[in-house]
Amino acid sequence: MNKDLKIFVAGHRGMVGSAIVRHLETKGFANIVTRTHEELDLCNQQAVTEFFQKEYLDQVYLAAAKVGGIHANNTYPAEFIYQNLMMEANVIHQAFEAGIKKLLFLGSSCIYPKMTPQPMAEDALLTGKLEPTNEPYAIAKIAGIKLCESYNRQYGKSHGVDYRSVMPTNLYGPGDNYHPENSHVIPALIRRFHEAKEKNLPEVVIWGTGTPMREFLYVDDMAAASVFVMELDKSTYEQHTKPIQSHINVGFGSDVTIEELAQMIGRVVGYRGKVNFDINKPDGAPKKLMNSNKLKNMGWEPRVGLKEGLALTYAEFVRMSAS
Ligand SMILES: NC(=O)c1ccc[n+]([C@@H]2O[C@H](COP(=O)([O-])OP(=O)(O)OC[C@H]3O[C@@H](n4cnc5c(N)ncnc54)[C@H](OP(=O)(O)O)[C@@H]3O)[C@@H](O)[C@H]2O)c1
Repeated sequence: MNKDLKIFVAGHRGMVGSAIVRHLETKGFANIVTRTHEELDLCNQQAVTEFFQKEYLDQVYLAAAKVGGIHANNTYPAEFIYQNLMMEANVIHQAFEAGIKKLLFLGSSCIYPKMTPQPMAEDALLTGKLEPTNEPYAIAKIAGIKLCESYNRQYGKSHGVDYRSVMPTNLYGPGDNYHPENSHVIPALIRRFHEAKEKNLPEVVIWGTGTPMREFLYVDDMAAASVFVMELDKSTYEQHTKPIQSHINVGFGSDVTIEELAQMIGRVVGYRGKVNFDINKPDGAPKKLMNSNKLKNMGWEPRVGLKEGLALTYAEFVRMSAS
């Protein structure tokens, strides 16, 4: 791959975007273009048009999105659907207008119906009803996949357009959000175990039964998978995908119970108290695991196991808390 390619990573200050920048730099790409939200609002069509016309980019990673947990999705559904649709439509269309042939769109596992058989394979898309709490966000993400596919179908042959989509499982790692009320399960547990250790608390109580099973992928593996899919030669990509089902799952390949996860985090943090479960609090879905065989068959597998990834993540949390 030509290391002089001019690559725009949209959302480079986010957890995934920053990992993609790190990975590209490690691979020797030096011409990486970034813009903060303040410098370039991707919802602003005029600003996005001017940016793309001026920059003469070769590739785009679309890792910018309005993201949030159940509470934020439920409280601000209009913002979630509007902003994500606008960002995707602006970036994908203006990339096309500027003659860019290669783009990677990042979606999410929430595109799959609530009752999808486990593990969830790519062909489950649009086979049933979505989880109502994040339906607007999921619809926007599905629209992102369909934008990429539609530009490929209409302009693939005539203009060489090759826009691809990856759907990550739950991610964790450096750059995660540790907000006490609004963070994903791994950063939330790291914070709670760390605080319990600091305060010598005798127990940490976790919501639910601890039995739901979840899959987690270290964010640097996600970045590596994104670059792998972007760089994959067209014939291999086309061999494993269909024009109207072109997205690719990116998962770790196996899952753990929340109880196992909590025990692992407790050990990584060095917490010596008890871990208990408040079974009167609700559990989420019993299992959420992606089928990532397609990506595996294309030649990519994750490198960082959960234990190692948690240790790396906690080390970063400690560094961050100290600074
Ligand atoms: N984290 C996960 O576990 C996970 C799992 C599956 C899929 N994903 C997907 O991966 C992608 C990135 O997620 P992430 O976890 O990295 O999210 P993140 O940490 O919240 O980063 C998102 C980035 O997008 C930027 N952004 C948002 N709105 C923007 C706008 N209008 N104009 C310009 N920039 C804007 C944000 O900048 P500001 O903060 O300045 O607004 C932020 O830097 C998303 O598509 C998400 O669905 C993530």
